[in-house]
Amino acid sequence: MSALDRSRALLAAALAVGAVLSASVPTMAEEGYPDRPIALVVPFAAGGPTDTIARIIAPSMAKALGQTIRIENISGGGGTTGITEASRAKPDGYTIMVGHMGTHGAAPALFRTLKYDPARTFDPIGVAAGTPVLVVARKDFPASDLKGFIETLQTKGATYSQAHAGVGSVSHSTGMLFDAMVNAKPTFVVYRGTGPAMNDLVSGQVDFMTDQIVNVVPHLKAGTIRAYAIATPERSPALPDVPTTREAGLPGFEVSAWNAVFAPKNLPKDVRAKLVGALDAALDDPTVRERLLKLGGKIPTGSERGPAALQKLVESEVARWTPALSAAVDNQ
Ligand code: MLT
Repeated sequence: MSALDRSRALLAAALAVGAVLSASVPTMAEEGYPDRPIALVVPFAAGGPTDTIARIIAPSMAKALGQTIRIENISGGGGTTGITEASRAKPDGYTIMVGHMGTHGAAPALFRTLKYDPARTFDPIGVAAGTPVLVVARKDFPASDLKGFIETLQTKGATYSQAHAGVGSVSHSTGMLFDAMVNAKPTFVVYRGTGPAMNDLVSGQVDFMTDQIVNVVPHLKAGTIRAYAIATPERSPALPDVPTTREAGLPGFEVSAWNAVFAPKNLPKDVRAKLVGALDAALDDPTVRERLLKLGGKIPTGSERGPAALQKLVESEVARWTPALSAAVDNQ
């Protein structure tokens, strides 16, 4: 055998051994993940429902992962700016995001050029919380109940201002549905999240909005805003005195939102499993559960948790919201 043949044979043998070793030794990502802080992108301004839920689950997820989780608020575009940016991060588990019924349900019906596909661009991790929606107004709004509120909007709609967090957000999509249903045409005021919007509702700078319960409860209990109804079939245990829309005379307006954790597509399997496990641990954490329930959040049960359940929810929400919103858009 010539020297060249011998060296080729040695190289082939070395490659064969290497191939066996690499197959059995986990990659750095799998073996050491996470070995540095994780960014959790919140696509709205601090202080709103999405941010609130992120800050409730993050510490418990961080404990389960043994790593810091850093909240990054990237607002704008009804949440689509932050989701688009996060979707372009490396699928290595170091960038995850909180999306919701707006960014991953209503948005495709309202954006002609959405830069992501809610059902294809992401690895779903799991639902964090269901969030019923309420019709809320500044505390001195001149109507004592939902019927009076609707009549006021119907007669003087344009003089009243309705806050939302950008096209496609929960507050925008459910707000549009509400306006179409009651045939009102208020003036929209856009915010980078319903955290800042709530500040203006409390100070009376804006008249009303449809917002998620986790953002409403503290202000309602403080008496700084008023709630006309909750848009769910049953009252919330967190707000037993707030009537449902059905009880208050608007039976057709029943909308609930949800917030969930997503990652850029194609995570390593081991990394994804660790993120799914960490969210599961957070949702079983008594402190997390107490805080979410106190704010009226609905904690997903076993069958409602995990990637498959979230994937199914996203697909059904996109299918549901597209026809529902196309009619509401015509009402604008
Ligand atoms: C929305 O969709 O309205 C957002 O959840 C508001 C927010 O979280 O700031």
